[in-house]
Amino acid sequence: MNKAFGNDDPALARYIYDLYTPEDAQLREVRERAGGEGLPGIQVAALDARHLEVLVRLCGVRKAVEVGTLAGYSALSIVRGMLPDGVLYTIEGDAHHAEVAAETFRKAGITERVRQLRGTALSMLPALAGEGPFDFVFIDADKENYDQYLDWAAANLRRGGMVAGDNAFLFGHLYTDESPPSQGQKAMRAFHQRLATSGEFRSTVLPTGEGLAVGIKL
Ligand code: SAH
Ligand code: DHB
Ligand code: MG
Repeated sequence: MNKAFGNDDPALARYIYDLYTPEDAQLREVRERAGGEGLPGIQVAALDARHLEVLVRLCGVRKAVEVGTLAGYSALSIVRGMLPDGVLYTIEGDAHHAEVAAETFRKAGITERVRQLRGTALSMLPALAGEGPFDFVFIDADKENYDQYLDWAAANLRRGGMVAGDNAFLFGHLYTDESPPSQGQKAMRAFHQRLATSGEFRSTVLPTGEGLAVGIKL
């Protein structure tokens, strides 16, 4: 039994993709404009953006945090899933990325639902704690600090809130046996260790291409 997405049949995967159309014209415009502005094409895949929206809808999210805005592709998806009065705080360390994202939020008419925090995530998160507790935290910035971002999420999510982490397979290098392990490997392994075994979360890794780790705070 082939358990891969679409049973590893590209035509079947295409059928699903065409039917569910995870990338509508609004998201496509964001991706294309970001590329035109020279941003790297490292936003979540379209179907993963839809996963985020549906997960957020499931949680009843009023207050969300995103670490790593880029052009606002995933942020737009998160906002789509939030309750009508929900607010997303999204952190970005690159000034140009944040400018492109601001245009995304302006075009989507969601400026008043998004608080853009510009700066290094680890320097912004302590003050952001004062706005919590949060219903949803999406971690998608530098992989070398994923364990510290999870520390913050564990402390600042409400019980029943969800943490999600993109790139949970670390581009295939999560468990490549390199000695000594890179900082990214150390941090991502510590992230998984806490999510999987600490007893603080009930967690899984959704089998997306990049691996989307999700945990519900107990
Ligand atoms: N979530 C986005 C993609 C984020 S890519 C989407 O799916 O649409 C990662 C982003 O994190 C980049 O824009 C990068 O500039 C930013 N970033 C990386 N390290 C950071 C840090 N330490 N603090 C804040 N932003 C950071
Ligand atoms: C990179 C970052 C991401 O969040 C991602 O999904 C893909 C690539 C990167 O930094 O290269
Ligand atoms: Mg990512």
